[in-house]
Amino acid sequence: MSLNFKELANKYGTPLYLYDFNHITNQYNELKTAFRARKSLVAYAVKANSNLSVIKHLANLGAGADCVSIGEVKRAIKVGIAPYKIIFSGVGKIDEEIRTALELDILMINVESDAELQRVELIARELGKTARISIRVNPNIDPQTHPYISTGLHENKFGVDIDTAKRMYIQCKNSEHLDPVGIHCHIGSQLTQLDPIKESVKIVADLVRNLKAINIELSFMDIGGGLGIVYDNEKLIDTNEYAQSVLECMFGLDITIVCEPGRFLVGNCGTFLTKVLYEKVNGEKRFVIVDGAMNDLIRPSLYNAYHRIEVLNDNKEFSSCNLVGPVCESGDFFGKNIELPKTQHNDLVAIYSAGAYCFTMASNYNTRGKVAEVAIEDGQDRLIRKREVFEDIIALEEEFIK
Ligand code: LLP
Repeated sequence: MSLNFKELANKYGTPLYLYDFNHITNQYNELKTAFRARKSLVAYAVKANSNLSVIKHLANLGAGADCVSIGEVKRAIKVGIAPYKIIFSGVGKIDEEIRTALELDILMINVESDAELQRVELIARELGKTARISIRVNPNIDPQTHPYISTGLHENKFGVDIDTAKRMYIQCKNSEHLDPVGIHCHIGSQLTQLDPIKESVKIVADLVRNLKAINIELSFMDIGGGLGIVYDNEKLIDTNEYAQSVLECMFGLDITIVCEPGRFLVGNCGTFLTKVLYEKVNGEKRFVIVDGAMNDLIRPSLYNAYHRIEVLNDNKEFSSCNLVGPVCESGDFFGKNIELPKTQHNDLVAIYSAGAYCFTMASNYNTRGKVAEVAIEDGQDRLIRKREVFEDIIALEEEFIK
């Protein structure tokens, strides 16, 4: 992104999230094109970045939405995503969420346990509706990614094993209030290996064939999200190869492909801009302290995740340091033992690949307001979320002071 970071930081203040909407367009088109041989639905995983303008941008491109709470479903509907393009997943949906999803008539509910299927059936019966169901299958495949973002093994809490899934499909078929329309599988996030995806899609496709043999014909095969992006120097899965291997597994099946990318669509559209406050040396250790913190962008603290960091000054004198924020936690860092140039007060620091799971995982810890978000499209910048002020943070508490 060759943006004028300094100008944008002056205009909107720091810390600040910047999102390049043209990048999102390119990523969406790349994936959609890769699947052109089939009917497909790219359902954006809203959790990655749920800013309404981001979802709206994807909606304009034709995307659907993969949601994990009724709040996300409502966001998608708010910006005009048609209910028939919305999927609702998650291991712990509450009754109210199931009820609303049924009332909104979304494409399908991804059911993740036998017990949940019973709840959905009950609620659908109460409403006099038929719930369109997809079952999340846990194929027991190691996705070879970070354990915290790995979901496709039986030791993870997600989905059901193949035999349970089969039983659940048969129950759906025999129920007046359940309509089995899809099958779902998502094995993890930031995937850089194609083989585990291939293996799991193959397992799912075999199940689709088995179900067809007993007259349960599914219309949607949801292969989840998970495509990795470059944070450092990762070698990525080629989208065409990805699509090709999925399509090969589906040979002979008349079924619409659904995928649920989050990070792939928005991860590399984002940059987090923060400003240097101070430098200090504790004994031998150099610290660069910036105005952004773990409450704004928690991935390094939470997963030890790497984000490329660049100080935007001309200083050539580099040395090792920790780049840290003002929050009262030793875990509040963006980078440890990284080489950065000597900095001065107000120097800008760019933290890259900050479009996915960054703002959405932000909190108000230490009574810090969530930062502003800005979209850049065709060279034009526009505010898409205001910086929170103190009054916003206390708004839901103030009236209760005794
Ligand atoms: N579908 C399901 C069922 C998911 O659980 C997820 C992500 C996605 C799709 C989208 O995955 P993606 O395409 O973005 O990889 N906070 C972590 C990532 C958590 C991912 C959770 N599930 C991080 O910062 O890396």
